[in-house]
Amino acid sequence: KHSGSTLIISNRLPVKIERKKGKLKFTASEGGLATGLGSFYKDNGSWWLGWPGIIPKTAAEEEQIREELKKRNLIPIFLNQHEINYFYEGFSNAILWPLCHYRPSYVELKPEYWTYYASVNQKFADLAKPYITEQTTVWVHDYQLMVLPGLIRQESSPRSIGYFHHIPFPPAELFRMLPWRQQLLQGLTQADLIGFHTYENAQNFSETCQSILHAEVHQQQLKMDGRSCHVDVFPMGIDYEKYKHQAISEASQGYCQELKALYPGQKLILSVDRLDYSKGVIQRLEAYELLLKQHPELIGKVNLYMLIVPSRDQVNQYKKLRNEIDRKVGNINAMHSIPGWQPVSYFYKSLPFDRLSAAYCAADVCFINSLFDGMNLVAKEYVASKQYQSGVLVLSEFAGASKELADALLINPYAIQETCDTLYQALQMSEEEKAERMLANQQVVEKFNVFHWVNLFMLRLQEIYEANHQEIARK
Ligand code: UDP
Ligand code: G6P
Repeated sequence: KHSGSTLIISNRLPVKIERKKGKLKFTASEGGLATGLGSFYKDNGSWWLGWPGIIPKTAAEEEQIREELKKRNLIPIFLNQHEINYFYEGFSNAILWPLCHYRPSYVELKPEYWTYYASVNQKFADLAKPYITEQTTVWVHDYQLMVLPGLIRQESSPRSIGYFHHIPFPPAELFRMLPWRQQLLQGLTQADLIGFHTYENAQNFSETCQSILHAEVHQQQLKMDGRSCHVDVFPMGIDYEKYKHQAISEASQGYCQELKALYPGQKLILSVDRLDYSKGVIQRLEAYELLLKQHPELIGKVNLYMLIVPSRDQVNQYKKLRNEIDRKVGNINAMHSIPGWQPVSYFYKSLPFDRLSAAYCAADVCFINSLFDGMNLVAKEYVASKQYQSGVLVLSEFAGASKELADALLINPYAIQETCDTLYQALQMSEEEKAERMLANQQVVEKFNVFHWVNLFMLRLQEIYEANHQEIARK
């Protein structure tokens, strides 16, 4: 064990700041990375560098934010409007995100996006520098910062650099499309350890490095240009106890009863995701509509409670998707409603933690049909919340979580009829089978929780450090 400090770096901090009625409001950020890692860093004397999601209006406001965040061990990086447009919305979310989620047709290859991606990654490296000593372990997160490991290596001398890729990594044929493929991989492979949620992603990455960097691969180690890096699989978990305790709290149980009372005699099918084309929202609505058509006895007896958290709303494909969802929901409600009942309850907002927990408690079915998804923590949160109430998890086989939650009802989200049949099966399932499946999934989520994930990653990084040092000593 070493006593050095840890510096976590991700584009988005776990705390998001908004201006409401002239005042600054601090809330928890959405998305798997922030919610997952948020439980860990506070207790470990680590620092976390990232973007708080706001452009300060004055120097005084900037200082106020800095001070406020410092109390929580957070260091803000401020992005200006161009950086937001070109680095965040552009290169990150209109190039890397669609490519990694197998949507090459959504990719907008604009050269200015790359210029900003490189300069903002440099800005992160510059800001990180004063926090890095030879005892510091730097842990970089996600696709917005793929070239950061290389920049840190050039400018600072940390003990180790780890990188975790929270989203899928595409096959080499797709990644090769990028005019900047070489720079991206060269920067990234300066990390000592690169982690993925699933074996498939790690495999795709290694093959891409073989094809583009001519790397040699032996036993989870890539060798190229006289240096090496390790690639390994670490499926991320959640803070199980936190979700469990919230679920059995009076507050969440109370809200859960209130929510159920709003839909008397109806089974609730819940979906929770950010507005994103990777989540399969249109296919979800199609499968649900098919269910209503093929099982008219369910009219008035079920409700699709669909919570969509606003996300990246300035990016073209996200704007389009939002309109498409509005239309589709409107259409289903118009076609299938009867007096006093409508089939889809659609919310475009985020919920506070206790309300989200209540929704998990109340839901008879949690319906996750991502077309591609790195992990999908919502699946695990639902499982952890099922302490007093029963429920069934219907889960896409294209979400990383499906590799672990073998007792969910797994679906191919592109097969609409099969998805519809599985939903029906979930609604008909006996209490006994529900309990058996949920318990099996709970044991997995409890054991392979987020602390386990962090420990495994850190341990592996430590082993690599020691092995490298022994080698240097031998030479
Ligand atoms: N979430 C949230 N507020 C909400 C709804 C969801 O913070 O109103 C959280 C949810 O609890 C989960 C995260 O957003 O931790 C979504 O993570 P996931 O891995 O499912 O998908 P991602 O957004 O990372 O693609
Ligand atoms: C996913 C990504 C994260 C990202 C989150 C929210 O979880 O893996 O890197 O932070 O979505 O998206 P946003 O663009 O709002 O940061």
